[in-house]
Amino acid sequence: MNHDKISILGISGSLRLNSSASTVLHIVSGLFPDHVDFLIYKGLEHIPAFNDSEAAPPVVSSFIQSIEKADAVFFCIPEYAFGVPGALKNALDWTVSSTAFSNKPTALITAASSGDKAHAALLLTLTALGANIPDSARLLLPFIRTRLTERGEIKDADTLLKIKDQCRSLLEIISTGNS
Ligand SMILES: Cc1cc2nc3c(=O)[nH]c(=O)nc-3n(C[C@H](O)[C@H](O)[C@H](O)COP(=O)(O)O)c2cc1C
Repeated sequence: MNHDKISILGISGSLRLNSSASTVLHIVSGLFPDHVDFLIYKGLEHIPAFNDSEAAPPVVSSFIQSIEKADAVFFCIPEYAFGVPGALKNALDWTVSSTAFSNKPTALITAASSGDKAHAALLLTLTALGANIPDSARLLLPFIRTRLTERGEIKDADTLLKIKDQCRSLLEIISTGNS
């Protein structure tokens, strides 16, 4: 990284209105300092089911380029039926033949009722893709509904502190290139 501005691409694993994961991602986006451009990716629902028999459609190429261009990627996901939400897993399948995630500083929050299975599964996928996702950039937030107010704020100081620590850690990884 040799530029002053840092760009982070935020990806929510949920397409739902009033999604807890998207709410947490929105909170995360506001925790970084001014020299960070935090852009939330909006096109997940437009990515077609993976099939590389023909050239990737423009929406997929654009998704991959967004990851390549970013200095880091920050995921916030729920768990559905004991797994990673299908739309996100499908989008990541398209990146397998690219080097988009190769050594990419990456953070993950899993915000769900329990979430441990999706958390572990996405970490496996991201590791397979070559992402740089050290322990300090991984956070599991179970019982997520009890941690958020109706206005979309974090209720307890401890959860907020953990998220802030994670953001700080991601910035360190970006600037040093080390995990
Ligand atoms: C279709 C569906 C399946 C779910 N399955 C699980 C599950 O297997 N494990 C879990 O911890 N939570 C599960 N949940 C609860 C969600 O993780 C939790 O409600 C979360 O806040 C929803 O995320 P979202 O609002 O970001 O979409 C499920 C929710 C939905 C809607």
